[in-house]
Amino acid sequence: MAERAAIVTGASSGIGLAIARVLGEEGHGVTMVARRADKLEAAVAALAGEGFDVHAIAANVSEEDQIKNVVAVHRERYGRLDVLVNNAGVGFGASVGEIQTKRLDMQLSINLRSIVLFYRECVADLLAAAAEHKSALVVNTSSISGKFGQGWLSVYSATKHGVVGWTEAMNKELAPQGIKSTALCPAFVDTPMTEFAKQHVPAEDMIRPEDIAEAVRYLLKVSPACIVPEIMFTRPGDAL
Ligand SMILES: NC(=O)c1ccc[n+]([C@@H]2O[C@H](COP(=O)([O-])OP(=O)(O)OC[C@H]3O[C@@H](n4cnc5c(N)ncnc54)[C@H](OP(=O)(O)O)[C@@H]3O)[C@@H](O)[C@H]2O)c1
Repeated sequence: MAERAAIVTGASSGIGLAIARVLGEEGHGVTMVARRADKLEAAVAALAGEGFDVHAIAANVSEEDQIKNVVAVHRERYGRLDVLVNNAGVGFGASVGEIQTKRLDMQLSINLRSIVLFYRECVADLLAAAAEHKSALVVNTSSISGKFGQGWLSVYSATKHGVVGWTEAMNKELAPQGIKSTALCPAFVDTPMTEFAKQHVPAEDMIRPEDIAEAVRYLLKVSPACIVPEIMFTRPGDAL
């Protein structure tokens, strides 16, 4: 059994999958979460085939009961939680007059509400890990549009600003007890989410998911005294 354990949401592809791999490399047992079971199982099987201690739980993070179940099954399997990665997210572009209520609610629910619920459900286990080694870690995937609002991606931008604000609040509330939170704020990353943009921005000009995951490896290594509230990732020529 791994000495450390983690939950990663949105772990079936892109940034979450790259982070799950790094956590495995750093000796964590990892519960990997995403909605579509087939895609998730394939991702987990690939990492397990390389010898990592990883397990799949198919769940929709919009559903409170499913979040509770993820945490309960993880606890039963590993008995501890050292790292929580709130990474699941969706983005729908629309001009303000065209915003669909269903898509508004989905973005609020997946990108922001689920993070609040995961903290609430995980805080006791994270406090136990922090009491043991002073460095429980929560990583929340925001976006560069969580720092600089984007037209057409206004709802997405608002949810991702919410992630940054929530992360700041959690550091005020929990860092003195050893739970450190970091918001990741990347520009375009080469993942399925950015397929829509690849006609205009070639995949090779985008940030790699592995670049983001390396930041998580760094966060695992900093001393308990060091909090990294956010990390921005941008690209040559991107205006900030
Ligand atoms: N790619 C970029 O340029 C970029 C830039 C900044 C920030 N981000 C953020 O990075 C995070 C990861 O995105 P990505 O780029 O790696 O895209 P991705 O490859 O499409 O990954 C998204 C992951 O989230 C899962 N997911 C989506 N809705 C979910 C739900 N309701 N419940 C559980 N899992 C759900 C997806 O699996 P299922 O669909 O099967 O559930 C998938 O595993 C997101 O929060 C995104 O906003 C991405």
